[in-house]
Amino acid sequence: MSAPDGASGPAARPALRPLTAADLPRLVELEELLFAPSAWSAGMLAEELQAPGRWYVGIDASSRLVAYAGLWFDGEVAQVMTIGVDPAAQRRGLGSVLVEALVARARELGARGVLLEVRVDNEPALALYRRHGFEVVGRRRRYYQPEDVDAFTMGLPLR
Ligand SMILES: CC(C)(COP(=O)(O)OP(=O)(O)OC[C@H]1O[C@@H](n2cnc3c(N)ncnc32)[C@H](O)[C@@H]1OP(=O)(O)O)[C@@H](O)C(=O)NCCC(=O)NCCS
Repeated sequence: MSAPDGASGPAARPALRPLTAADLPRLVELEELLFAPSAWSAGMLAEELQAPGRWYVGIDASSRLVAYAGLWFDGEVAQVMTIGVDPAAQRRGLGSVLVEALVARARELGARGVLLEVRVDNEPALALYRRHGFEVVGRRRRYYQPEDVDAFTMGLPLR
């Protein structure tokens, strides 16, 4: 895996770009790799990208999408809809770049806070979110289907 596009030195931040319908085939591929059996379908992703209040961004490496994330702002609170990093590009800081970008966007929008759901057994994601100041605020029983796994709700107050 080469360096993310837009990053030219060890301290450079990889460039974020908006996701478009042209990204759908690669998004479906990444969803299957990262979230099967509850991966979003092409149809669900297409709807999400153009739904009201959404902000979807991605990071490329060698002109190929390797990381993506989405936020939904309902006028009060921002919700992290998804965040995923290609397994071949994980543990290089891209997840952190995405979380920081979503939180910054939520601040700009004037959100009261940021909320998200995460599988209770998803240690990498829990560690990532904790590192960025999120705390567990609740538990949703059997939230993930068909896996039948609970979710933690995590929150980050912004004001
Ligand atoms: C969770 C995920 C997005 C993290 O992306 P990433 O680019 O690997 O994360 P980063 O490299 O920015 O890691 C930042 C911090 O998160 C934590 N972290 C990330 N992966 C971890 C792992 N496998 N084990 C433990 N901690 C981990 C660490 O604190 C890490 O900091 P460090 O590398 O300095 O120790 C990625 O593992 C992923 O796509 N997982 C599958 C999809 C998913 O579960 N998404 C979240 C849905 S709620």
